[in-house]
Amino acid sequence: MKILVSDYIYTPNGFISNQAIAFTETIKNIGTLEKLRHKYPDATIIKTEKNSVLYPGFINTHVHLEFSANKTSLRYGSFMPWLYSVIEHRDDLIKDCDNAMMENQCKEMLHSGITTFGAISSFGNELQVCEKTPQRVVFFNELIGSNAAYADMLYGDFLERLKASQSCEESSRITPAIAIHSPYSVHPIILQKAVTIAKQNELPLSTHFLESKAEREWLESDSGEFREFFEKYFNTSTPVTNIEEFMHAFDTYPTHFTHCTQANKKELDYLANKGHSIAHCPRSNRYLGCRRLKIEELNLPFSVATDGLSSNDSLNIFDELRAALMLHNDIPIQELATRLLQTVTENAADILHLNCGKIAVNKLADFTIVTLPETPKREEEIALWTILHTKKVSQVYIQGEKYV
Ligand code: BEZ
Ligand code: FE2
Repeated sequence: MKILVSDYIYTPNGFISNQAIAFTETIKNIGTLEKLRHKYPDATIIKTEKNSVLYPGFINTHVHLEFSANKTSLRYGSFMPWLYSVIEHRDDLIKDCDNAMMENQCKEMLHSGITTFGAISSFGNELQVCEKTPQRVVFFNELIGSNAAYADMLYGDFLERLKASQSCEESSRITPAIAIHSPYSVHPIILQKAVTIAKQNELPLSTHFLESKAEREWLESDSGEFREFFEKYFNTSTPVTNIEEFMHAFDTYPTHFTHCTQANKKELDYLANKGHSIAHCPRSNRYLGCRRLKIEELNLPFSVATDGLSSNDSLNIFDELRAALMLHNDIPIQELATRLLQTVTENAADILHLNCGKIAVNKLADFTIVTLPETPKREEEIALWTILHTKKVSQVYIQGEKYV
């Protein structure tokens, strides 16, 4: 048994002070140090620095490690020029992204307090790294392929990758999962097969959805910048599905929809009614010119996530939270800071069906300790000071073990 003591603890009921946590792999008790010491006389007591705040480990629900080599290769500013630049540089970016590079990015996330991440995997290249990393990884094997002629082959490859991730489940902190690339890039027949597998095996399911104006125009009226793209690369001028049909494919299984920046109220209400959730990636949306997601109007759970380095400049969750504070500039800042911390803890854990994200008895002992530069004068501002002042966290525990 270990006992962690810090000046403040972030709980579902707000910040509490002068308390400690007793834990093994899970949280056993919360109370004053005196009480816990008395109850567990043999426990190791770990004191944190003054002005430390103990949080549940943070969760980044959507990241692409395989694209970690991008720095100045891809074109930012607008979605379609970005996509053309991905096609142009994809082979080099994948080749340059070795295990050491991906391990570094896992470390970058760890030092920003991320104890769990959702890795969207196009090729399965990051599986070894995700097996080795101390963090929990929801390993989203991605299905892609709109052309019926190649769909079966791509589906077969997807099943192989899924199987490989399932074989690591026992020996690592990996949870196998499924990702659908997008409405425009996945044929409805293989889409339905993948959703059925997710449902039968209770695997987390995610998809990119309505990220760009071009995507919307293509799915709604076979027009816009995607028409030229599909004529050029796929010799077709008709999309394989439409917005309604695509959403309906997920009706019976709660899914994590990434971006949704171009979704209208009716579509968002539909997703909410079916129990779905959203991954909101503020910097990615800004860098690819994909509009601001109106989080103040959402009536479904959402997480804040980094996306990959193909559309971002870091995988540090605090960089993302600071960007979110700036992007959503009409929301009162204290209220937004509090809300943002919920999205990367409790909300994200619920979305990924994980028993973490909350400081409460029986939850997994995943902790992130942030040390503020001085004593907060007002308790109601701790969330904001945490986001503004943290580049690196001071300590990280996963399943009761210390990793930072
Ligand atoms: C496809 O496989 O159909 C596809 C892949 C990437 C972008 C668009 C379509
Ligand atoms: Fe993504």
